[in-house]
This record gives sequence, C-alpha cells and structure tokens, in this order.
Amino acid sequence: MPPGVAHTVWKQDEQTSKFPSLGQNLSADVVVVGAGIAGLSIAYRLSKEGKKVVVLEARTRGSGQTGRSTAHMMTWNKNSYHKVEKQFSTDSMTQVAQSYLAAIEFVENTASAEGIDCGFKRVDGYLFPESTSKSDMDSIDKELAAAVRAGLTDVRKVDLGGVAGAGGVHEALMFPGCMNIHPLSYVNGLADAVVKHGGHVFENSLVTDFSGKKVTTEAGFTVEAPNVVLATHMPIYRNFTVISRQNPYRFYALGFAIPKDGFKDGQYWDISEGHHNVRLEEHSEGNILVVGGEEHRTGIKPDQYEDNWAKLEEWTRSRWTQAGEVRFKWSGQVMEPDDMLHLLGSDPLNDAQIGARYYTATGDSGQALTSGTLAGMIIADEILGRDNPFAKIYNPSRLPPLSANTIKELASYGKTVVQGLAENLSPLYLQDIEDMKPCSGAVVQKGLEKVAVYVDEQGGKHAYRATCPHLGCLVQWNPNEGTFDCPCHGSHFDNRGRVINGPARVNLEPVKLGTFGAKSVA
Ligand SMILES: Cc1cc2nc3c(=O)[nH]c(=O)nc-3n(C[C@H](O)[C@H](O)[C@H](O)COP(=O)(O)OP(=O)(O)OC[C@H]3O[C@@H](n4cnc5c(N)ncnc54)[C@H](O)[C@@H]3O)c2cc1C
Ligand code: FES
Repeated sequence: MPPGVAHTVWKQDEQTSKFPSLGQNLSADVVVVGAGIAGLSIAYRLSKEGKKVVVLEARTRGSGQTGRSTAHMMTWNKNSYHKVEKQFSTDSMTQVAQSYLAAIEFVENTASAEGIDCGFKRVDGYLFPESTSKSDMDSIDKELAAAVRAGLTDVRKVDLGGVAGAGGVHEALMFPGCMNIHPLSYVNGLADAVVKHGGHVFENSLVTDFSGKKVTTEAGFTVEAPNVVLATHMPIYRNFTVISRQNPYRFYALGFAIPKDGFKDGQYWDISEGHHNVRLEEHSEGNILVVGGEEHRTGIKPDQYEDNWAKLEEWTRSRWTQAGEVRFKWSGQVMEPDDMLHLLGSDPLNDAQIGARYYTATGDSGQALTSGTLAGMIIADEILGRDNPFAKIYNPSRLPPLSANTIKELASYGKTVVQGLAENLSPLYLQDIEDMKPCSGAVVQKGLEKVAVYVDEQGGKHAYRATCPHLGCLVQWNPNEGTFDCPCHGSHFDNRGRVINGPARVNLEPVKLGTFGAKSVA
C-alpha cells in the first residue's frame, strides 16, 4: 500500500496507471490539471464537443479524494437548504436544488451513453434527526419546508418504523432520486471516454509550474493551451482569492460486513455535528455498509487526535445493529467553503494580459461527486461560450454574504494561517528523535529550524524542512494517515516528504539531521 493511502472500499490503493506520463511538449485547446471526478467530467464534455483536451494527473486517475469518497450523490444539500436560503435567497437555494438534480441525471446519462459499469443505482435518501429533541425536530421541519420551496416537491416526511435495517430511525425526510455509484469505476470510465472522444490523459505527470498558457510538469514537459483548468481539489496556486475562502477538514469512513437483510436500502444522513452518512455497497467481498463522518480540521497537532474511527464505529453499531466486522477503514479531505456553496467556474486569477483563461473547481463541501459533475457542466459551457443556468451561483468571483457563518469561517481561516506561520518562529517542545518509535513521525526543533522527521520500520530517520512549500505554514504529523499535513490549505506530504495533495506542488525539502545537531540520520 503506498504511504499515506489507507484502505478504501473502492480499492483505491490497487488502482494502477493506465495512461502514459507526458513525454513531449503539446498544445491543446484546454489543459485540465487533475483526473478526479471534476477534471474528468470537464475533459469528457469538452472532448465530446470536439475540443482538443489534455488531462495531466500527478498520480493515477481517481487517486485524490474521488477514490476516498463514501459516494452518495444526493438531492439534499449537506449544509441544509434552509441555511442556504437564509444565507443567500430562495432563488439561489432553488438553483442549488435544481443543479443537484441535473448532476445526478448527467451521471446517469453519461454512464448509460458511454457504457460505464459503475453500479449506478437510484435510491431514496433519508435525512434523520440525531434525537427527538425539539431543536432536532424543528430543523427537520424547517428543512422539509425549504426543500419544497426549492422545488423538490416529492420530499416528504416518512416513518421508517425504527427497524434495525434503517438504523432504528423513525421520522425522517425522504429525498427520492438520489444515486449510489462506484466512484473509481465511474472516473475510470470517464477517462476512457475522454480518450475515445479524441482527448489525451497523462498520469504520473505532476504539474509543478504554470504561467499564462504554459503548464509544465515535473519532468519538464509543457502543454500550451488558451484554457487552463485547475481541477486539483484545492487550486494549486498562491493567490488568496479562492484559497482563503474555504477550510480543509479530515473526514473518516468505515466499511462493515453486513447481511443483506441488515440494511433497508437507501442513503442515510443525519443532522448531527458528526455529519454521518450511510449506504450499502454490493462489493465483491459481500455486502458492505459504508459509513462516513466525524470530521475535524486538517493539520491539528498529533496529541489532539481522537480515535475518530472508533467514534464512527460506536455510532454505527448503536444504530445498524447487524453491522459485522470492520473490513475497510480510511479517511480523506473535504474543503468547506465559507459561504457553503461550491466554487466552480472562471477563476478570479484570470488576467487578460497573461493570454490564458483559468478555471477552478473547488469548495466541494464533501459533495464533489455532485459538484465535480456540475463543474463538468458549468466550466465546459463557459469554455464553449454557452450560458449555463448554474454558473452564477457557483461563480468563484461572487462576494460571500457577510453572515455570522461566513464571518466565523473567515475568522477561523485567518487564525489558522496566522498560527501556522507563527509556529515557525515559536520554539517547540524539545523532543529527542532517538526516542521516536519505528513507523512514527514528528515535527521537532533542531536549533532554529523545525524539522519533519519520520522513523521507518528499520529505525532509519528521514528528515525534511517542516515549512510547507505552498505558503510557509508549519506542517503537522497526522498519526492516523502517517502523513505530514498542512493546516492552512490542506497540502499533504507522505512520510518521505513527497507531496500527495496540493495546493503545494513540490515536495518537502530534505535536510541532513546532522546539520541540526541531531545524533543520527539515515
Ligand atoms: C471520506 C469522504 C467521504 C466523502 N463522501 C462523499 C459523498 O458521499 N458524496 C460526495 O459527493 N462527495 C463525497 N466526498 C467528497 C468527494 O469525494 C470529493 O469532494 C471529490 O471526489 C473531489 O473531486 P475532485 O475531482 O475535485 O478532486 P480529487 O478527486 O482530489 O482530484 C484531484 C486530482 O488532482 C490531482 N492533482 C493534485 N495536484 C496536482 C498537480 N500539481 N499536478 C497534477 N495533478 C494534481 C490529484 O492527484 C487528484 O487526482 C467525500 C470525501 C471524503 C474524503
Ligand atoms: S501553506 Fe498553504 S497548504 Fe501549506
């Protein structure tokens, strides 16, 4: 298993490269950076429309957050329709609801048209209160009224009877027409369809630089195109216009063996702080109950980690009582936009003088199977010069309304960045690296410098400058994933300092521990 990649129900760690790495300079109409659901949806639509498209992926398709999803495509918005309505307007909320219906339909039509075997299946979704407290029940009622105002007139309250297969849930809101998919099979199919329609996909082609029309990979090859799409989950640049408008969170997932009669078919989501979601996957190893939730901010200190998987397991077993052994266990990252809406479209970075148009697809809010698909619809239409009914609400140049929520999130962003930068200056607890156990990591003080140290299975020590090459915040060891994570914008580096998640585009700089007065270095 590659370092930093835990075991997902979709077998992400077994996904191998199918496409070559970029080995020559090319020109195209559009260059798409990132082969997750967003990048490949955009590339698919444009190549089908006859545009010359090149996709550049750092690792393999689906190796980012797409292959780490719990894979619900919902007609519900995870932030709650009534909150979106309060933050924006009834009209904006209606647009969001309609866009979610359109995204599900797009995936269904595309999978059918291209013969993509991704197990897509329409199911009902159930939004349920965590308790029968008045405030939980009021939220459910508010959400029902808002969903109907948003045009989802088939949403209704149902009683699931408290049966074990439905997690003991009684009253819930039923959202018909949601969709289960196998996310890796879907993006694999999209990549094949891009190539079938004349596009090019390159894997193992990390983009390390871009300027104007020219995008350059780590190997030094370039693609020149008048349209550049950064579909890298978080855009891989330093411009604050987009990166300061969202905060990175770690989200946890488990897959339990479960008998078929232990689960009433559907998708389940609660309105608790834990943001739990539950669905069934008919897996080659039997039926798997896929459960997600228990998020926390990315880049917390190692001693602040709780056992979020244990919390998730306890929550699941208290509800789905036939859940058997845990077979899959992983986590991933989601980006929470300050104003709750995705950021999809023409990038504020656009500058007529640089002669290229830039586009971004980010702000997933844990729903980018939907928003990544929407990116395919919106950004492709923008590049094709067509109007798209959803372009305006998701426009990354929109001004966020100054609500209590946006102010809180912006303040949290500001605090994290100030802290992340300041920590480079404040001395750390003087940990002796000789005390570190095999397969562990830490950020330690050596003289005036902070060093990210990993001790491998044989006790060999690997050391890197602990300053994130993106914008200089201090990275932190993530004991759950065995990675060094940056709290500011969510860059991740594996235990050998290699960047595995942007916005950073380069690795942590190796250092010789000896130069810092350490006792030994591998
Ligand atoms: C545990 C978990 C559960 C989730 N559950 C759901 C769910 O139920 N429903 C839902 O809709 N969403 C869910 N999500 C969110 C969803 O999976 C993601 O938001 C979505 O897959 C992101 O897609 P993307 O294409 O934007 O990014 P990614 O899939 O991360 O793709 C970005 C790609 O860009 C590549 N890249 C990055 N930097 C570079 C570079 N410099 N050069 C070249 N390539 C680069 C990466 O390798 C990656 O492959 C969940 C997420 C997690 C972590
Ligand atoms: S400083 Fe931005 S991700 Fe590290």
